[in-house]
Amino acid sequence: MIPAPVPRLAVIVVAAGSGTRLNGGAPKAFVGLDEHTILRHALRGVFAAPRAQVVVVVPAGFEGAALTDAREVAGDRLDLVSVVAGGDTRQSSVAAGLRALWADVDTVLVHDAARALTPPEVFERVIAALDDGADAVIPTVPVVDTMKRVDATGAIVAAVDRSELAAAQTPQGFRREILAEALTAADADHTDDAALVAAAGHPVITVAGDAASFKITTGPDLERARSLLATAPPPAAPAESMPRGPRVGIGTDVHAFGGAGTLWLAGLEWPGEDPLSGHSDGDAVAHAIVDALLAAAGLGDIGTHFGTDRPEFAGAHAGAFLAHTRNLLAEAGWRVGNVSVQVQANRPRFAGRRVESERVLSAALGGAPVSVSATTTDGLGFTGRTEGVAAFATALVVPA
Ligand code: CTP
Ligand code: MG
Repeated sequence: MIPAPVPRLAVIVVAAGSGTRLNGGAPKAFVGLDEHTILRHALRGVFAAPRAQVVVVVPAGFEGAALTDAREVAGDRLDLVSVVAGGDTRQSSVAAGLRALWADVDTVLVHDAARALTPPEVFERVIAALDDGADAVIPTVPVVDTMKRVDATGAIVAAVDRSELAAAQTPQGFRREILAEALTAADADHTDDAALVAAAGHPVITVAGDAASFKITTGPDLERARSLLATAPPPAAPAESMPRGPRVGIGTDVHAFGGAGTLWLAGLEWPGEDPLSGHSDGDAVAHAIVDALLAAAGLGDIGTHFGTDRPEFAGAHAGAFLAHTRNLLAEAGWRVGNVSVQVQANRPRFAGRRVESERVLSAALGGAPVSVSATTTDGLGFTGRTEGVAAFATALVVPA
């Protein structure tokens, strides 16, 4: 295979802010939007845009977490990603990103991770303007509110003609040396790169931004992003960065007998049998399958997606776990090939309901074949003493 050329374009994703105004319990880029962080969503847009070196700038200590996010969305571009620690100001974080650029890079985009939902088309418009010869390009959107100039006391000093104004977004694109020189020459701190480059005397042109590219700054912004995600799925990754399969995964789970109610195992209710204890229904078979599928797709494990902080999965049965897992896989470009799971337990006796459980589990996975087998352990171990059940699953996933 011919190696892909070293890109001449780089995207610096600044994610090193603390998110004081959001106050989300973690640095802003690492606050969850759904089951994924703000950073993961921002990177999804970056990797859906044209191929580039990607430098993610994060608070010191968050490099590993950022790499995990990048790994999940970079597809075959992971070798283009580096993660570096940022500085106390956005401008110093941009400078840290610039220091990590490869020698061949001549064009740089700087993007706020806090703009988690920026569509790839905005990246494309900025890149196209740079390709057409611009030295500095920013996306903007019209200002819709009527503007006033106010003084320190809050009194209106003057009306401002809204038609002369535009709200600046990111990614902002520059010839590399222009941005680098403006940073070196800077004698003030600027909140965006266009201001820095303009202060250094360079003209900056604009292209159309996008309403979805708003910056998550406060709690209501976070809610807005969450509700947009709930109604519109994020853009699919481009074909060239799709993970290539097939891939296999393994998952195991154990639950002890205990608690009240009836037994739920392998997607079936077993009247008259002792229940298993757990945050959900204790269905070790379903949980082992979830782990095997997530592992196969490289999407973490059951704790990543179904932690005890998710009340909607308290008491949930296999169908809910498997359907959500299938959705997570689909979102990442995978479908289930097949699943094989073995139960180690003295009770219940699977022989009479094995095929029924296969049918139920398969239906929850959209029809993918599921094989269930069961065994005992000759009286040995906790399963042999009928203290609980163990399940072992393997799964195959293939690109959707
Ligand atoms: N940023 C950065 N390094 C900093 C400050 C900001 O990389 N020292 C990044 C943020 O992570 C964010 C973008 O610059 O993606 C825009 O900054 P802002 O929205 O102000 O984020 P925060 O500084 O994190 O938020 P706040 O100002 O509320 O603390
Ligand atoms: Mg800030």
